Amino acid sequence: MAQCGDDTLLRRPISIHRVDRSKLAVLYAKLGQGTQWLSKQKEYAIIDILGPLGNGYSINDDAENLLLVAGGMGIAPLMFLAESATSKGKKVTLLLGAQKAETVFPDSLLPAGIQYIVTTDDGSMGIKGRTTDILPDYLDEADRIFACGPAPMYRTMNKYNLLKDKPCQISLEIRMACGMGVCYGCAIKTKQGLNQVCHDGPVFDFADVLWDELVDI
Ligand SMILES: Cc1cc2nc3c(=O)[nH]c(=O)nc-3n(C[C@H](O)[C@H](O)[C@H](O)COP(=O)(O)OP(=O)(O)OC[C@H]3O[C@@H](n4cnc5c(N)ncnc54)[C@H](O)[C@@H]3O)c2cc1C
Ligand code: FES
Repeated sequence: MAQCGDDTLLRRPISIHRVDRSKLAVLYAKLGQGTQWLSKQKEYAIIDILGPLGNGYSINDDAENLLLVAGGMGIAPLMFLAESATSKGKKVTLLLGAQKAETVFPDSLLPAGIQYIVTTDDGSMGIKGRTTDILPDYLDEADRIFACGPAPMYRTMNKYNLLKDKPCQISLEIRMACGMGVCYGCAIKTKQGLNQVCHDGPVFDFADVLWDELVDI
């Protein structure tokens, strides 16, 4: 949770994108006040961050072929996962959906050996359409799926049963206030009952989330 200047009351949740021994990288879209402020910080500026908070993806030892599905900025935490998966010798296929070519994550920054397929809404790069259009083509060869993207992407997966009951971990992007399990502003209903996305998540098993009960995220 990053404090983005004195004018934003609430910290903003940001994923860990990459980790080096002494450095931590984040990747963000300049959207509102918080991320605009972040983008104006100069080199060596000190930023007040709270974390790491919540859980992360976990890769089972027996999983060999991983399918990663990123919607927009969802690429941010998936890159961290892709790096640790390739370092363990796993085969990784990454489907990335972006609005247009200018917002596509450059393949030069990906770990070596990843199969990378891009879709864009306007067709300006890769396949025209959404990741959910091509997901069924890559399902058979995957033994684990990991996704991060906006709620409509997950709703489509759920509505058309695109995962065909394959195990899938998702990271939920939801509005957060405290980020530490205090305010219940991020609560969602799962098969285990009421869960806090900041504390029990943001990563959940797709099959555990009660999608029909999720309102307005
Ligand atoms: C666990 C987690 C990890 C995240 N990691 C990243 C990351 O690595 N990189 C990144 O760029 N973003 C990430 N986000 C999203 C980011 O925290 C929000 O976009 C944040 O609101 C940006 O702050 P802001 O002040 O720039 O924009 P705000 O002023 O808060 O919002 C900008 C615009 O986005 C809309 N908006 C913001 N959040 C939501 C939402 N959840 N649902 C619908 N509309 C929304 C607002 O209504 C507004 O129009 C993450 C979110 C979560 C929960
Ligand atoms: S944001 Fe406060 S409980 Fe999750």
